[in-house]
Amino acid sequence: MTQALFKKVAFIGFGLIGSSLARVIQQQKLAEQVVASTRSIKTWQDAKALGLITHGYTDPVAAVEHADLVILALPVQATQAVLQRIAPYIGDQTILTDVGSTKGNVVEAAKKVFGSLPEGFVPGHPIAGSEHTGVHAGKADLFAGHKVILTPLESSAPWAVQQLTQLWQATGAEVVCMSVQKHDEVLAHTSHLPHLMAFNLVAQFTSRQDNLDIFRYAAGGFRDFSRIAASDPQMWHDIFLSNKDAILKAVDGFETQLQQIRRLIEQEDSNHLMQVLQDAQSARQHFNHMLKKNTVLEKEHVTQQFTILPKKHHFKGTFTIPGDKSVSHRSIMFGSIAEGTTNVTGFLEGEDALATLQAFKDMGVHIEGPKDGKVTIHGVGMSGLKAPTQALYMGNSGTSMRLLSGMLCAQQFDTVMTGDASLSKRPMERIAKPLRDMGAQIQTTGEKGTPPVSITGQQVLKGIHYQLPMASAQVKSGILLAGLWAQGETSVAEPEPTRDHTERMLRAFGYDVKTEGNTITLTGGGKLVGTDIQVPSDISSAAFFMVGAAICEDSDVTLEAVGINPTRTGVIEILKQMGADISVNNARIAGGEPIADIRIRGTRTLKGIHIPEDQVPLAIDEFPALFVAASCAEGQTVLTGAAELRVKESDRIQVMVDGLQAMGIDCTPTPDGIVIEGKGQSGDWSPIFKGAEVQSHHDHRIAMSFSIAGIRAAEKIVIHGTETVATSFPTFTQLANEAGLTIDTVD
Ligand code: S3P
Repeated sequence: MTQALFKKVAFIGFGLIGSSLARVIQQQKLAEQVVASTRSIKTWQDAKALGLITHGYTDPVAAVEHADLVILALPVQATQAVLQRIAPYIGDQTILTDVGSTKGNVVEAAKKVFGSLPEGFVPGHPIAGSEHTGVHAGKADLFAGHKVILTPLESSAPWAVQQLTQLWQATGAEVVCMSVQKHDEVLAHTSHLPHLMAFNLVAQFTSRQDNLDIFRYAAGGFRDFSRIAASDPQMWHDIFLSNKDAILKAVDGFETQLQQIRRLIEQEDSNHLMQVLQDAQSARQHFNHMLKKNTVLEKEHVTQQFTILPKKHHFKGTFTIPGDKSVSHRSIMFGSIAEGTTNVTGFLEGEDALATLQAFKDMGVHIEGPKDGKVTIHGVGMSGLKAPTQALYMGNSGTSMRLLSGMLCAQQFDTVMTGDASLSKRPMERIAKPLRDMGAQIQTTGEKGTPPVSITGQQVLKGIHYQLPMASAQVKSGILLAGLWAQGETSVAEPEPTRDHTERMLRAFGYDVKTEGNTITLTGGGKLVGTDIQVPSDISSAAFFMVGAAICEDSDVTLEAVGINPTRTGVIEILKQMGADISVNNARIAGGEPIADIRIRGTRTLKGIHIPEDQVPLAIDEFPALFVAASCAEGQTVLTGAAELRVKESDRIQVMVDGLQAMGIDCTPTPDGIVIEGKGQSGDWSPIFKGAEVQSHHDHRIAMSFSIAGIRAAEKIVIHGTETVATSFPTFTQLANEAGLTIDTVD
């Protein structure tokens, strides 16, 4: 047996929480001995019969003797009286903790009893529970996937915090530390107020004459809302009184909000009412994603798949592809820190850009929409962002996390950014390192320089000159954005030109940004002024339709108003070099970005090429689709100088090789590219790919690339893990189906 964490654990009180924790301790043999003291003899007798404790007492003093861990698991208001009795038995090496929902009062009680607090005293609170109570309701998985908050005090010894952290981590919980005051404020809003409202709603109904009817006809809304009113009244009575100040503040906030919505209904103010409801709905959806994130991380389970059946596909039509992801992100970021209002049109309502939008809402920016691609941002200026109450969740979006890293390092508050399973594996040191050189306090707290990213605010940043070691617009942008707040000049030199949306858009917001050769320079301390941003259609999304048309006989597809920023047009150049019939028409400028209508026709088959390395950064997101084109081309296609593909939403070289090989293509990965033996023959449009089930590894662009391959498949293609398509191209299947490629979606 490995050595147990504790010799003797003594529970004082043994309800749902205590007995659940004891189950874990017993199952994992974390203690040599577990005892409990409870008010009723029956409780400890039951606990003993269940094998959860070896000894039970009604006197806490008897329980705590020689214990090295004492856990108060009783109603919070009983704390002081119990502490009074057990204080003389708490030794230098005893860890003393509790599981109560309020912390300020527990610390107050301990101060009164001990005078100077013992170093083993570390208050705690598992954020898990149920409306069921008692020793029989306990279960070993109660805490798994939940958070446990520890509130170490100045007097708390690191060894005590560390051992308690280990104990709670063994339950499958995530342990977070915060101050007592923060804990009580946060819990007042997230737990105490909702319970108070549930009790209060049921009380309101039961006091009505017709209450029987109300309960009889009450539907899901009442049931869902009132579920927690079935919780233990004694416990909640104690919590409400113990956390009185913070709860009263939360109640005041609720009353103000209630009055506001009441007024909007009374005045039939449809627009504002709609706005309040929409904002709440999008915040709730965001919360859903955060909850889902845990499931994805734990189980990596596939939530959606595409199936494409073989047939003679056609691919035709005129389409408006959704807004550019890179530009959409930046419109929210810059609009938020600008002075005045920014109106955005053509905003991409995909999950990635929405994660950025939600992050700025979480930092106190008032943002209206998105509705039909329109977003109005009421900028708060360079020093107007507020501390978010919790970690910012960036979903699948590397752009959000890297650009925000730069912005957040310069703020007056601390932040943490988390992401989904894919983002949690992506390298963040590439941005953290130069930011540290600027004086930022930023940590990549994942195992390999990966998220979560933790930032300590209130640092003074200094401008640097940075030579980018890789061609990355995200890293370039993150540094330039930190530079907005830094002392003096910040400049970034790039090894190759990368997308320049940050530079262009900063200028559109009135900020002076210089580009000289490969170096971009700005000086900190200026301001941004709100403006109107027209987001062009995303050339990276359009690429799937370009390749689709290029590999389909007699196709004719026009993509309207697509962004053709010269730092993004590699895909057009590469397809042209492969012989595709592609024309760029009606070029014009919209909102500071060049756009055009792009027409592609299936009039000639493609040929393999050696892709020029200078095109790589200009087509970096389009390679998965281009590999499909290369598979249909005649002869070999060779890509070099594209190692960055290995650190995108997935390792796009390996994942494409695996899928293409399964579909019968002879291709070989190299460290920085791929060699594809195209199966096409000049003038021959017959199927190229054989049937296969392929994994997208939850990478949106991989999922869409394999879908497009369906146009030239001889048999059924099934693609797993396609739900992330919604991050960048939420209307992909709808538009592809309109063009003539039938994709069946199974959730
Ligand atoms: C982006 C930059 C590129 C690109 C990503 C969007 C941006 O990433 O792949 O989809 O908006 O700045 P890198 O900076 O990692 O090359």
